[in-house]
Amino acid sequence: MNPLTLQPISGSLHGLIKVPGDKSISHRSIIFGSIATGTTTVTNFLDGEDCMRTINAFKEMGVTIQKNGSNITIEGTGLSGLIEPKKKLDFGNSGTTTRLMLGLLAGLPFKTTIYGDASLSKRPMSRVVDPLRLMGARIDGVQQGNYLPLTIKGTTLKSIEYDLPVKSAQVKSALLLAGLHSENKTVVREKSPTRNHTETMLQAFGANIKTGGHTISISKTTDLQGCHVEVPGDISSAAFFIVAACMVPRSEIILKDVGLNETRTGIIDVVLQMGAKLTIQNERIVGGEKIGDILINGSQLSGVTIEGDTIPRLIDEIPILALLATQADGTTIIKDAQELKVKETDRLLAVSENLSKLGADVTPTEDGMIIKGNTKLKGGSFKSYDDHRIAMMGIIASLVTEETVVVDNIDCINISYPNFVNDLQSISK
Ligand code: S3P
Repeated sequence: MNPLTLQPISGSLHGLIKVPGDKSISHRSIIFGSIATGTTTVTNFLDGEDCMRTINAFKEMGVTIQKNGSNITIEGTGLSGLIEPKKKLDFGNSGTTTRLMLGLLAGLPFKTTIYGDASLSKRPMSRVVDPLRLMGARIDGVQQGNYLPLTIKGTTLKSIEYDLPVKSAQVKSALLLAGLHSENKTVVREKSPTRNHTETMLQAFGANIKTGGHTISISKTTDLQGCHVEVPGDISSAAFFIVAACMVPRSEIILKDVGLNETRTGIIDVVLQMGAKLTIQNERIVGGEKIGDILINGSQLSGVTIEGDTIPRLIDEIPILALLATQADGTTIIKDAQELKVKETDRLLAVSENLSKLGADVTPTEDGMIIKGNTKLKGGSFKSYDDHRIAMMGIIASLVTEETVVVDNIDCINISYPNFVNDLQSISK
């Protein structure tokens, strides 16, 4: 346990931050670089614990991966060059590693056992295992394969057409990875768009993939070619500073080179709708992904309703948006967000309990919460639930509380943003 005590601040936030590389894109760069042939180079890779799980998994399967800070070089083996790992693969806290690797391992000609930490072991895997079984996958594990540890006996897969029952990029990506080594065409249809980094990156690596509307189809591709991946800054990490700068009067900050893929920018749409002073500068496309700089000034915001197709576009930002809502005038309603119950922790519960303890007016609902602002927050203890995004939300909360906040454990921040506290200190004036 590594608690952090935060005193209320008297000044405002000023300066420039370059947030670390995008977690989703970093994971995918390692996966595709490993199963391609030739060299893949990655810059601005997220040097966090989750992405290291993906690197270590491929090292265990015989891939040479060199890491120099946030620069990575992968000597891809091609799909057929991966070898059976000598030990069980430890995926730690990483849901993305687990779900995407299930899709890949299902079609490889060897047996693998995967496991994770206490949080990951409680997260549902049947959303991936069930459609993979329809493709012929042989996966065994706790409660019919719904929970880790799981053992995957790789086999020849057949393609399917599948309507995703959950709005999940992890499930979609697992099926596309399985589709890479299935005969015929695999078709995946989503109800509403989720992050599309898998599709964009597979195109860059030369896969036979087509996207149109809400449908993605992929045909067998065993000859992916290594390439260069420049990872944009993670908008999910930038979100903490977007909210911080909105909430603290007289603040002005710039967030450099942030990924602005439209499947991820729900947070920007929502804060603008709330009345935020936010502008995007230097917009450009890098490696198929839109990036730009975000300029934010502090201002008084108003409550909004966040629901429907917007939810997958800001799924990881809901905790920090809930904090922002406590400082906005009027009511904010968050609905259709039941997926938050199965993240690193039950984030609906973690957010509503923490905010209520700080004195906010929060009513939990079945699929979200109702927050009435604008409330002064007291200080007190803030429980991270060992969830990186909840811990960072607690740290940002201390910027608007009247008394000291103590976040019980900040070690989990290393999952996605090891330098978070230093970056925040650098703009606190
Ligand atoms: C991710 C997808 C999202 C997100 C997670 C990363 C990905 O999960 O919450 O942090 O990289 O594909 P779901 O697809 O389960 O919603």
